[in-house]
Amino acid sequence: MNLQEDTTTDPYALSAPFIDPMIAGFWQQVGPSLVAELQPLSGLSGPVIDLGAGAGRGTRIVAASLPEAPIFAVEPSAAMRTALLARLMDDAPLAARTTVVAGGALEFPFPERVSVVLAMNMIGHLAPDDRRSLWERIAAHLDPAGAVLVNNLPPTVAATVPRSAGPVVRVGTYEYRGWSEAEPAGDQRLVWHMTYETLQQGRVLARVEVDYDWWVVTDEELHAEWAACGLGARTLGNVNLHVLSP
Ligand SMILES: C[S@@+](CC[C@H](N)C(=O)[O-])C[C@H]1O[C@@H](n2cnc3c(N)ncnc32)[C@H](O)[C@@H]1O
Repeated sequence: MNLQEDTTTDPYALSAPFIDPMIAGFWQQVGPSLVAELQPLSGLSGPVIDLGAGAGRGTRIVAASLPEAPIFAVEPSAAMRTALLARLMDDAPLAARTTVVAGGALEFPFPERVSVVLAMNMIGHLAPDDRRSLWERIAAHLDPAGAVLVNNLPPTVAATVPRSAGPVVRVGTYEYRGWSEAEPAGDQRLVWHMTYETLQQGRVLARVEVDYDWWVVTDEELHAEWAACGLGARTLGNVNLHVLSP
């Protein structure tokens, strides 16, 4: 199939160089909880699906926790897949069992039975109908002993989010930093306005502005959506991670 991608509508085409440095701290925090949830599932034989895998930090954690599992890393952004593939190519065993699928979660043809689905920092990219049909598809393909790991980033209602600074990450003599702010764009929608900067000794060398459309949903609504397709949920409050199982 010839997949033609529209880089003009992909905000990550601009922000991709910043995503991995900016998200590293998040994964340091969440990683141990994820490992603790995944390791007991290592006896399952079905593949793992990482939806919206980004630069692959979650993919790598899943792989370390489930050393035998084949992995499908599903990622629509060509820019993000570049980072993902670079991460995989530095780890030959990981590259050997990870298939990078160019496309969105809704287009992914789920294998008959999957053991684990990871959907981290990405459900806001899905419109409500798409999100609900994703849960249905996952429920239809999830091993009865399998699990879905998903987070719901705040805010969970369409509210203004004042500008706040993200982490500052030093790479060589440069620093990378970002700011985020959001404004409502309807009942269940936000637009995130992101600013990313590259600095040298405090001097801004480059600035990138990016908007992300983002759908919001409360945890209560999510629980109802999951229950409607037979998925139970428990929440790891300390890391805001939902663990779903049939
Ligand atoms: C904030 S990044 C998170 C990446 C990764 N999951 C992580 O936590 O490090 C969100 C990712 O979701 C991807 N994405 C956007 N729309 C998507 C869709 N419809 N299906 C799957 N992934 C999508 C983006 O391209 C981006 O790589």
